Amino acid sequence: MGQFYKRLEALPTLGMGISTEYGAFQAEGSLDLERLKKTLPQCAEVLELGIEVIKGLDTDALNWIKDKQPTTYHFLDINLDDPNDFDDEWLAQVRALIELAQPAWLCGDAGLWHHGPRSEGHMLLLPPILTKDSAYALADGIIKLREETGLEVLPENPPGHIYVGPLHILDFFAIVLERADTGMLLDLAHLSIYQNAMGFSLETGIDGFPIDKVIEVHMAGGSHKVHQGLAYIADDHSPVILPETWSLFNMIADQLTELRAVIFECERNSFESCQAPLLELRQHLDMHLPSHSAWRSK
Ligand SMILES: [Fe+2]
Repeated sequence: MGQFYKRLEALPTLGMGISTEYGAFQAEGSLDLERLKKTLPQCAEVLELGIEVIKGLDTDALNWIKDKQPTTYHFLDINLDDPNDFDDEWLAQVRALIELAQPAWLCGDAGLWHHGPRSEGHMLLLPPILTKDSAYALADGIIKLREETGLEVLPENPPGHIYVGPLHILDFFAIVLERADTGMLLDLAHLSIYQNAMGFSLETGIDGFPIDKVIEVHMAGGSHKVHQGLAYIADDHSPVILPETWSLFNMIADQLTELRAVIFECERNSFESCQAPLLELRQHLDMHLPSHSAWRSK
């Protein structure tokens, strides 16, 4: 038995929030963070900072952390399964950003952010190869980053339409969590895309997955598309959450006993288009998460 559940006691419940990346709120037609904070504070309790260390934090992020508001650090530039990716310069920059933003934990898609050396704006993001060896390599990287930073590192199931390897993505991450003695950021939009792309039913793989290790959930909109006869779901972060993603949430809600944050990834949409979906999500969380969960202890 690992120490994870013991360490969990020190992790705060952050509540519901939104995500950002460098410059996202300044892009045309994007969400007005100030207005959101003023109008719907219950939907903006935490800001997830999507970070490439080479870019650092933008003005909106700096304004947010100036008032010591809660954050999480979502990395966008580390291949956790590659020991060569943990160079001293990158680690020093990560530590400096942690010092500045004081995030509650680190998290991020556990896939390949780049091929070859890290470079600005690479953001390739391929899913991991779904084998046991690959899960072990990923777990080693999670442990290393946790030890180097002193913060929990929660891997996120990445998006993708083509996957290599024999394991179901939930079985893959169950191995990673066990081996790294850690919790998870479960992106339910990504999971619905995966189940659809693989031709699985929505509930496939959920039975064997430790949902009580899910510390953070991502919700995001998507769109059904067809290209040259191929039907797929695009992970476009539009403001409307698909019924498949809601179904997954409802399927696991009563087992989310250790949930501490829910992020709605909608920052590149207008306040007007996000307002109703944000409120709907907030009401849904308050109504459907178990009353004995970490969520309620906030
Ligand atoms: Fe996500």
